[in-house]
Amino acid sequence: MSILSGKKVLLAISAGIAAYKTANLVRLFIKSGAEVKVIMTPASKDFITPLTLSTLSKNPVSSTFYDKEDENELWNNHVELGLWADMMLVAPATANTLSKMANGTCDNLVLASYLSAKCPVYFAPAMDLDMYQHPSTKNSLEKLQSFGNVLIPATSGELASGLVGEGRMAEPEDIVSFIEKDILSKLPLRGKKVLITAGPTYEAIDPVRFIGNHSTGKMGFEIAKSAANLGSEVILIAGPTSQQVQHSFINRINVTTALEMYEAVQREYAHVDIAILSAAVADYKPKNVAIQKIKKAANSLEIQLEPTKDILASLGTAKKKQFLVGFALETNNEIENAKDKLQRKNLDMIVLNSLQDKGAGFAKNTNKVTIIDADLNETPFELKSKSDVANDIINHILNKINA
Ligand code: CTP
Repeated sequence: MSILSGKKVLLAISAGIAAYKTANLVRLFIKSGAEVKVIMTPASKDFITPLTLSTLSKNPVSSTFYDKEDENELWNNHVELGLWADMMLVAPATANTLSKMANGTCDNLVLASYLSAKCPVYFAPAMDLDMYQHPSTKNSLEKLQSFGNVLIPATSGELASGLVGEGRMAEPEDIVSFIEKDILSKLPLRGKKVLITAGPTYEAIDPVRFIGNHSTGKMGFEIAKSAANLGSEVILIAGPTSQQVQHSFINRINVTTALEMYEAVQREYAHVDIAILSAAVADYKPKNVAIQKIKKAANSLEIQLEPTKDILASLGTAKKKQFLVGFALETNNEIENAKDKLQRKNLDMIVLNSLQDKGAGFAKNTNKVTIIDADLNETPFELKSKSDVANDIINHILNKINA
């Protein structure tokens, strides 16, 4: 899956012959899972039609602040477009548009949107070789980079003028892979390995029955997605759950019992930077598992239980470089119990869920947590979607490991 999947891309086209390549560019962005809106300088419509681009992007294409021929005369709100985008790409970026961008000129929709954009801006110049070498153009390129905009360098080759040299817009495939690499290299968890446990465990009583719990695994899967979206390689060790996840950075390992989860975690722990144990692991398991299905006989049945291994505690003992995060699900004396667990198990952070909070807990889409760090500072959060809670947890960890 591309890192561009789900990203909102604002493609701004200016009037160079390379504009004809933007049809392919839009197609590649769509293929990578991005949502694309196209804006054009008025003159660029001589090189490629808005109809082609709107068909490929599945969105209306705008080139003016409003359409005089449209009886509804809708205002194309550049501020809204600038805020909508997760990233803006100016391609092709002509000498004229580059110079105007560098100097704050604002005489068309592309330039107004550029000035309004708060997102990362990439630009792919395209012009004749002498124009590309001109000190004025070089000045524009430097100025734009000093604003934090990212240059996708032009390449060398045959130009529309017939001359051969530098000034050709990078090929659409190369533009997309340049942007993907650039985004990846800037993700804050890039190069980090994160271990996450999620879901319940099932402890067999006999071939058809087990001891389990109500955990759906949703919270752990959201944490896995959040960590992967920030660039980390994730090992997600999941108990029995119907949760699905499709992410090229997430490697899912399915387990059933607490012992299998323990063994999978032990295999991975030495190689990870962060471990987040959100699984609802069974604390006890039947001492003996019946080989045959237990028949209904007397009025009562006793099953003798023995403790499972405490995975979190074992990681606290073996901890070296890892940042270790546990969960606590409490019903009374929540804060004290969670702090006690944090210290007993040698954790760097604990995420407390209280079953007393409405909207928090198993099988809900929302959660309300308090994060407690190793210095016993408490950070309470509002009731939020589990995906927002996951982002809060990951951001809290990031702040701690970068502090
Ligand atoms: N946990 C674990 N292995 C177990 C039991 C729990 O790794 N066998 C982890 C959970 O994933 C969670 C944390 O321990 O991160 C807290 O689980 P909880 O059941 O609340 O705590 P316990 O240590 O079992 O303490 P108690 O039941 O006394 O509250």
